[in-house]
Amino acid sequence: MAWSDWIRGGAEVEPSLYAADFRRLGEQIDALLAVGCRVFHFDCGDGHFVPPVTIGPVVLRSIAPVIHEAGGVLDCHLMVDDPAHHFEEFASSGADSVTFHVEVAGDPAAVAERARSLGLSVGVVFNPETSPGRAAAAAAEASAELILCMAIDPGYSGQAFMPEAVDRVFELATLVDVPIQVDGGVGEVNIASLRRAGASLFVAGSAVFGAADPAAAYLRLAAAAA
Ligand code: DX5
Ligand code: ZN
Repeated sequence: MAWSDWIRGGAEVEPSLYAADFRRLGEQIDALLAVGCRVFHFDCGDGHFVPPVTIGPVVLRSIAPVIHEAGGVLDCHLMVDDPAHHFEEFASSGADSVTFHVEVAGDPAAVAERARSLGLSVGVVFNPETSPGRAAAAAAEASAELILCMAIDPGYSGQAFMPEAVDRVFELATLVDVPIQVDGGVGEVNIASLRRAGASLFVAGSAVFGAADPAAAYLRLAAAAA
């Protein structure tokens, strides 16, 4: 199934691999695949748009074959100043989609066109200080297939969920008709209220990988999102 079909298929919990134990990355991915997880979130930070340098195409290339072999997809969140500069390498490394920040996309339509020319699906993402209206306008210009509402300042896993994200998702849902994704501090305590507000895609880093059994945590989150 293609990325676009997964994101439109209903509620999905997407483990954020940035929060994985990298010594055991393959084992943790296998355990998630074994319980039915097929959509994985992959965070690339450039050390400039966000403070940390995170993970990038080298890691993507190692994991994409096993995820694709299982019918899964890699949803890539680019926390970088110049997203289009990285698209070619993401495409050739196995990315299925790229989601870029509206704060750095002067011409969202052109950035999206570049991604699509490489066979990548497109999402747009906006930070807590950016208005849902501005994000919705950028999503329309880009003909984005999803819009990601950050519930933290991007950069690190393990930060506290900003409760105002629920209202921002609700407002966004009145403005767009593409799937709404939420990223940052998502867990069992807020997933149902985010779903009611209009989100259907839930990125979860520490709520999955911070648990003693990530696969069991994924299943609990998926049940809470359903
Ligand atoms: C951080 C990333 C997130 C991160 C989420 O900016 O975009 O995807 O891994 O981690 P949690 O779920 O722990 O906030
Ligand atoms: Zn992310």
